[in-house]
Amino acid sequence: MRMPPEVNKHVQVAGTGSALPERIMTNAELSRMVDTSDEWIVERTGIRQRHIAGEDESTASLAWQASVRALEAAGMQASDLDLIVVATTTPDLVFPSTACLLQAKLGIENHCPAFDVQAVCSGFVYALATADNFIRAGQARTALVVGAETMSRITDWTDRSNCILWGDGAGAVVLRAAEEPGILGTVLHADGRYRDLLHVEAGVSSGLDKSRAVRMQGNAVFRFAVNTLDQIVDETLTRFGLQKSDVSWLVPHQANIRIIQATAKKLGMSMDRVVLTVDQHANTSAASIPLALDTAVRDGRIRPGDVLLMEAFGGGFTWGSALIRWTQQGGA
Ligand code: ACO
Repeated sequence: MRMPPEVNKHVQVAGTGSALPERIMTNAELSRMVDTSDEWIVERTGIRQRHIAGEDESTASLAWQASVRALEAAGMQASDLDLIVVATTTPDLVFPSTACLLQAKLGIENHCPAFDVQAVCSGFVYALATADNFIRAGQARTALVVGAETMSRITDWTDRSNCILWGDGAGAVVLRAAEEPGILGTVLHADGRYRDLLHVEAGVSSGLDKSRAVRMQGNAVFRFAVNTLDQIVDETLTRFGLQKSDVSWLVPHQANIRIIQATAKKLGMSMDRVVLTVDQHANTSAASIPLALDTAVRDGRIRPGDVLLMEAFGGGFTWGSALIRWTQQGGA
């Protein structure tokens, strides 16, 4: 790893990428598996379909595809990276980390640090904040930040109250030190008292033989998420001195369209300023924000100069946000 002697003033996103498994599972297919309907799922969640990883796909393989695309968009080589941070709740292995598996897949031999961050659906915002701080502190000049998940592997396909929600995928961003912002700031929070509302029982220390499926009291989580995201919008804008009207795009965690609509209302934004992928991707946990971001960057909606507000809420509970002034993609 290069060790620049000085701190870096700002951090910009140089490129984005994403990857989705080929297999699509529609609501119609789900309604043949559990007692539900396309109508109920669309009305209560906004989800129409989700992508499901095949046997030959994994969190690391999706992360690798998204990373290759992000590096290409940034005009950079994998060997240019000083840091890799992967946000995931569904790692390929207990260890090595998915970030280390990704480093090997990218063929990087420069010994840059690589590690995973686990904050469930807030994972990407946590990973972005971590890499942003590494670069600002002068411990890296470039970083690859990935959100990648195979949530289908921890889904109980007989539980209609939550199997309808999840999807698989990965999104990645390449960050670089810069003279101008970039990332205007990040806000992170957690409250560990709510494990019973949203958790997976199985774990290395508590027993891998326990249930590996997501258990969620959806209604309680929903209410908590709406209130918490409401507060973090105010906190973020106040902390970084922006008005609601300064935000060009809301790029939210894609859990449920009704949660997203509540945040947009709080911001006084019309839904055409919100990047929505929940209908196509469902809830891909840590992958959902970078997947949505890459979608809107590639279709030309997000333009240099736009201000993006990202926000997420997830298991833990964890929640967080990032404000970004968008800059030109590709080589500096
Ligand atoms: N199809 C048909 N009916 C259903 C289904 C289904 N798939 N699931 C539940 N129902 C029924 C229930 O049985 C209930 O019936 P009843 O009234 O006869 O008892 C009724 O629908 C209402 O159930 P609720 O659970 O109150 O439904 P709700 O409107 O809350 O929607 C949902 C459930 C979609 C899960 C919602 O609560 C939600 O999105 N919660 C938040 C999820 C979230 O954001 N999680 C955080 C991130 S995830 C992470 O970090 C890993």
